[in-house]
Amino acid sequence: MKRENFSSRFGALMAMAGSAVGLGNLWRFPYMVGTNGGAAFICIYVLFVFLLCLPILCAEAMVGRRSQTNAFRAFDRLAPGTPWKWAGILMVLTPMIVVSYYSVIGGWSLEYFLKSLMFGFTSDAQSQECLGEIFGDYISSVWRPVVEHTVFLGITAIVVVGGVEKGIERFGKIMMPLLFIIVIAIAVHSLTLPGARDGLAYLFRPDFSKIDASVCAAALGQAFFSLSVGFGIMLTYSSYISRKENIAASSAYTAIADFVFAIIASCAIMPAVFSFGLSPQAGPGLVFQTLPFIFSQMPMGGIVAILFFLALLVAALTSSVSIFEVGVAYLVEERHLTRRTAALVVYVVTWTVGVLCSFSFGPLSEFLVLGDTIFDFLDKISANVLMTAGALLIVLFVGWKMKRSDVRDEFTNGGTLPVNDRLFPWLYFMIRYVAPLAIALILVSGLLP
Ligand code: PHE
Repeated sequence: MKRENFSSRFGALMAMAGSAVGLGNLWRFPYMVGTNGGAAFICIYVLFVFLLCLPILCAEAMVGRRSQTNAFRAFDRLAPGTPWKWAGILMVLTPMIVVSYYSVIGGWSLEYFLKSLMFGFTSDAQSQECLGEIFGDYISSVWRPVVEHTVFLGITAIVVVGGVEKGIERFGKIMMPLLFIIVIAIAVHSLTLPGARDGLAYLFRPDFSKIDASVCAAALGQAFFSLSVGFGIMLTYSSYISRKENIAASSAYTAIADFVFAIIASCAIMPAVFSFGLSPQAGPGLVFQTLPFIFSQMPMGGIVAILFFLALLVAALTSSVSIFEVGVAYLVEERHLTRRTAALVVYVVTWTVGVLCSFSFGPLSEFLVLGDTIFDFLDKISANVLMTAGALLIVLFVGWKMKRSDVRDEFTNGGTLPVNDRLFPWLYFMIRYVAPLAIALILVSGLLP
């Protein structure tokens, strides 16, 4: 059976950027900046993205494109008959866990988008406490979040059933440019608000005394999550790109798009937060509680709210599509299911886990796994343990198991890319020595209480 592929460079790039740009940029990045000291956090974050995560991204992409198969089989195909095949299991399992809880937050975005369409934030003046209460009541209720999780995951599944080219690629090609335009428009509007300057200073004037080990760990975790590395996702997507593509370039474009988007998103949010004299340190509630209050106060807030929550929804969808695809690719290629049946299986499993996650804000909030609610537990083990373990396995595989000449061949397309040829020794050094050490450090610090 011929494997499906992305049909164009632009399409592949939009799909990869679509995976990277997601809730991590619009929801998580701004509040991480807010709770970790502003500009100083961003400086550390840039260093991690480009010096550490980019080489790891290249490593993951090389495994995918060289093996030309799904995340489960990739290691086995490149190193047949070795225990490396167990790494493949992790690469399929982690995304299944992540998509389950990601879809719950995707459902929240859907709820807020629908609310904004009905001008729910602007119809009557609302206090911040009242909006906080609305959010709390909503996420702890039984039905609505589950219905929205069901719809969100359903849309994800439909896109994936459409196939690599006609579903995922086409969706990314339409949605990603739309997403950038919306967020730029909101940022421009936000920057014209009185007092916006303080927000910019907060984002771009670093106070290096704020940097400590916990800020560094937070920045690194955020970089991994935001670039979607270590999940088998970039591996799967790269197995769909042509042999002629330049892996260094496509990885770099993905990282740049992701970073630029995170900065524009922060420029859309922080100036508005400062303009209304609110605290940037609201944590995860920043987008769902602080922002709706701002929308209820700002000029044209009703329209801005619609655009913002549309962007949040679209960004979440393009990412969840990529996470969903990993499991589907595995079932189609390894278990010989049709795309439709495979998507149904992934849907049923992740929907069920997602419902438990959603209930963990309400009826199951007392049910703890190792001291955390189900949602927090899954979020923590996937972000702090499984994802970092996945990244570690990838760099160890490329740096120590694959032959150096093979890695070079893949990175330089058989020696035909002179710039990559020059970059190779640096990249190889990062993948072989620096990245494993850095990742092992995070893994250990993540495991410590
Ligand atoms: N990178 C995505 C984001 O920023 C999230 C994601 C994580 C996507 C893991 C795929 C895998 O939201």
